[in-house]
Order: sequence, then C-alpha cells, then structure tokens
Amino acid sequence: MNYKITVIKGDGIGPEIIDQTITVLEAVSEKCGISFTFKEEMMGGCAIDKYGVPLPESTLKTCRESDSVLLGAVGGPKWEGLPGDRTPEAGLLGIRAGLGLYANLRPAVIYEALREASPLKPEIVEGKIDILVVRELTGGIYFGQRGREEKGTANEWAYDTERYSVAEIERIARTAFEAASKRRGIVTSVDKANVLESSKLWREVVIRVAKDYPDITLNHMYVDNASMQLIRDPGQFDVIVTTNMFGDILSDEASMITGSIGMLPSASLGSGKLGLYEPIHGSAPDIAGQDKANPIATILSAAMMLRYSLEEYAAADIVENAVRKVLEKGYRTPDIASFGGKVVGTAEMGRLIAEEVREYEL
Ligand code: IPM
Ligand code: MG
Repeated sequence: MNYKITVIKGDGIGPEIIDQTITVLEAVSEKCGISFTFKEEMMGGCAIDKYGVPLPESTLKTCRESDSVLLGAVGGPKWEGLPGDRTPEAGLLGIRAGLGLYANLRPAVIYEALREASPLKPEIVEGKIDILVVRELTGGIYFGQRGREEKGTANEWAYDTERYSVAEIERIARTAFEAASKRRGIVTSVDKANVLESSKLWREVVIRVAKDYPDITLNHMYVDNASMQLIRDPGQFDVIVTTNMFGDILSDEASMITGSIGMLPSASLGSGKLGLYEPIHGSAPDIAGQDKANPIATILSAAMMLRYSLEEYAAADIVENAVRKVLEKGYRTPDIASFGGKVVGTAEMGRLIAEEVREYEL
C-alpha cells in the first residue's frame, strides 16, 4: 500500500518534531512493507509570512486529496496581535472545520517508565491511568457568532456564543460511545447543565444516544467538578466526552497528569477516513531550533494515524511499542528528565525510536 500524507510542519518546534516523526515513519515503511508519499504544505504563521493568509486554499486541497494529514504546531509571538481571522490559530480552526473533523481524540496515558514524572502523589496515580478525551472540534463557542459592539467608546463590549445543535451533539456522543465500547465501557459526559442552555441540550441528547449503547455506563459531570475529579481520582475516567472549549481545557489538565504535555498525541476525525494528527502541545517558540523539544507526542500522533486513518494496526502497535521501549531504556528529552535518565535531544530521540521500530521482531 502507498499512502498519501500531507505534512504541515508549521511554526516553532513544528519542523523539528515532524522531521523526527518522518524518520520513524520511514522505519515503519521498511519494517511493514507499506510506503508513504509525503507532500509538504503550509499553514499557520509560516503561511501568513509566505502567502498573507494562515490557511491557503491549496493546503486544504492537498489535505482533501490525501489519506491523512500530519501536523506539527502553529503560532508564536511573531504573529500575535494580528486581526482574528489572520492568526495562525485561525488557520488551525479553518483546517479542522474545512476538513469536517468534528471529533478530537486525546488519549492521556501514564507510561510505567514515567510514573514519577506525574505531579500527582504516587498513591493517586497508582492504578492504571488511561483516559480518552473526546472533544467536539467544529462547533461550540469556537465557531459561534462573536463580535464587538460600541467600538471605541467607553461602553465597548464583546461577545462569543456557545451553540450546539442536536446533530452535532449526537455524532460526537456516538464517537464517544463507540470508543468506550472498545475500552472499559464508561463514558463521562462533561457539561455545565446547571447553568447553560446549550449544556442542557447536550445532556438530553447524550442520554438519548446512550439508549443505543446499553452496555456502556454513562455518567454526567459538571465541568468544574470534572476538573477537580481529574486531580482527585483520575483512575475513575475512561472516556470523557465534552464540548470544544471544555475539551480544550480538560485535555491540557489530563495531559499534565501523565507528566508532560510533550507526550500527548491527538487525532481529529470526521465522517470518513481522512484525519488530522497533531500533538496537543503548542509550537513552544522559546525552545524552537534548539534540539530540545520532545518529538514523542507527534510520533504517537503518527501511530494514531496508522491506526485510525490507514488501518495499519500492526504498524501502529510497533510505533507505540518502540516509544515505550525507548522510555524504558531511560532515554528522556529535557521536559521529562526531571527524575533523571539519559537526556537526549529531539533528533536523537527520533533516531532511537526509529531504531527500535527497525529492531522489532515481527
Ligand atoms: C489545542 C489548542 C488550540 C485550540 C489553539 C491553538 C487554537 O489549544 O489544539 O488544544 O484551542 O483548539
Ligand atoms: Mg489546547
């Protein structure tokens, strides 16, 4: 099989972490007898510099014609303060919406070798921590009506609108229930139904959809309580399904439970096979170009791509296994090295993981 992958390196540490991910995918290609054709496109700050817009139409076109999209990270201080529709972040939202990728899967898993990197007390992260945040990605307050009124006056005000339709809630709920049916079978739906009308509808629809999944246990939590429960007892969660904004916030929190945001991958999916795969962290401009960034979140995103878009399950397992092996051998990028280990740079971490892929015994 040959797969067409659109590669968007982006800004900051984006290019370095993507380069290492490609090194790993090349090893996968040799190992598993599948091949990749990578086509590079631009999005984010670099696209603003080159084309004057964060998401050129040509980038979307290439993405639509490919089997999958691999993304580094976008944004940086250089592009802060631009008008709202011209920011790198607008490019990111545009690509998610433009490709119809409404479901964002963000797994937060504690690696045995990194257990002590968790800022939580050992007794709290003692058991298995394996949480999948299913974040709605193309609706809610990120895409609702917004604006400013009475501009330039002392009474200036601004607004953003949280809105969800039944159809939007239904499809993300199904994604969560389907995912839970392949896991521990527990869905926690997070909302703010004690205050927000959109959350009341959210809860009603999730309850309705749950009827089609009698084997799944459904819980509801208000978002404030959920953020507390994640710290108090993260082991209670299996799948968390929530809105775009709550998912943004809770996934950062869940990531930190695992020790480093530099470890967490994500998959953004729509109704077809095409997906967008990116680390959940940002472009970290402060360490860009210094060979310090952790490429693991992006490499694990590529593993998710192999699993969800390309259905190359064995290859996905091999990549995840290689990451685990390298961590077990004690190699650490600086972000996960506070408890010792052999500190390596971005490129060396990529090389070690690629080597582990090549050495895997099929
Ligand atoms: C994320 C990021 C983005 C988001 C930003 C960069 C627009 O925080 O992917 O979590 O809010 O979705
Ligand atoms: Mg975020």
